[in-house]
Amino acid sequence: MHISPFKLERYFARYEFSAPYLLSSSDCEPLALNELLSMIHGETMKMWNVLKLGYTESQGHPELRKEIAGLYHSVQPEQVMVSAPEEGIFIAMNNLLEKGDEVVTTFPAYQSLYEVAHSLGCRLRYWQPQYENGWYFDLKDLAEQITTKTRMLIVNFPHNPTGATLSKSQQEQIIDMTKNKDIILFSDEMYRFLEYDESSRLPSMSELTDRAVSLSGMSKSFALAGLRIGWVTTQNPQWLEKFLTFKDYTTICNSAPSEILAIMGLRARDKILATNHDIIRTNLNQLEDFFTHNSFLFEWHRPAAGPVAFPKLHESLDANHFCHDLVEKKGVLLLPPEVYDLNANHFRIGFARKNLSEALEKFQEYIDQEIKGGGS
Ligand SMILES: Cc1ncc(COP(=O)(O)O)c(C=O)c1O
Repeated sequence: MHISPFKLERYFARYEFSAPYLLSSSDCEPLALNELLSMIHGETMKMWNVLKLGYTESQGHPELRKEIAGLYHSVQPEQVMVSAPEEGIFIAMNNLLEKGDEVVTTFPAYQSLYEVAHSLGCRLRYWQPQYENGWYFDLKDLAEQITTKTRMLIVNFPHNPTGATLSKSQQEQIIDMTKNKDIILFSDEMYRFLEYDESSRLPSMSELTDRAVSLSGMSKSFALAGLRIGWVTTQNPQWLEKFLTFKDYTTICNSAPSEILAIMGLRARDKILATNHDIIRTNLNQLEDFFTHNSFLFEWHRPAAGPVAFPKLHESLDANHFCHDLVEKKGVLLLPPEVYDLNANHFRIGFARKNLSEALEKFQEYIDQEIKGGGS
């Protein structure tokens, strides 16, 4: 198998553990182990204390799958496969796609969502949002990308990197568009639960149609990326069986401690989500001020959901160079457009971390010295 480098992950590999100001992370402020343990009592704590560090059930711990099912209205524990989130993408694409298939994907996108398909020999078509309309994903544009040969539609809402989302009626229309055409819907819902207004939270695509596979996990909304626990849900038992058979060649089963910690995270989810929403609310206001103050340099659409946004840098400067220079000179990490395979002057900013103010101060210093001051 030949697969192209994952540009975003390679960029993070270079800077994430050396740059002091992570201003592009898409996960919420990670919880410390003792913070998580302090939220848990009784039976759950007992599971942790008596845990045996052997192999685990390949599909995922039954209690964990029960907790996961509880995040939805109509998903059953037996419709869940637990895996690392990234692994879920890899397994699903490998089992549902074949060489020559046509795949339509939301774009820009987290690269593996389309790269695995590409590596399998699929032809890609892109559903791109309209920047001028506030990163609007127009269903008319989607309709133009779907052909008689489309095998799969890959969507990701809330969207990384623009922060766009869909209305319930748009979600229903997407399902209608795919329903009678034998199109599989792969729905990346990693940022579900980070809607700013709870009433705008969409049901999972996997609840609404048996032609869908949905992806979610502990990494983003639940602030536990280091567990490497995610899941796919589908109503289709044949697909799930195929995924499990394939998983014997990836990880076989999940990490035993991570599964119990994920159960804890989900049982403490109200508290974890409330904290993350507080951080995001405060940080979004600060970002708004920052972009207003620097409006000569940036244009931005306030995101509709999630922990990331995709502002535009003034055309007189190159966003790739800008991001590189900023991290080298001030240790502030943004994501340049090149990691999204994008020939546009946008960069990704993340705002679900606690040290946003310090990172913005450093960012402002860079602007004042290097842009306004003309550099040293
Ligand atoms: C949209 C999207 N899907 C999937 C993933 C993969 O999640 P993980 O890194 O926890 O495997 C990410 C991570 O950034 C993401 O942004």
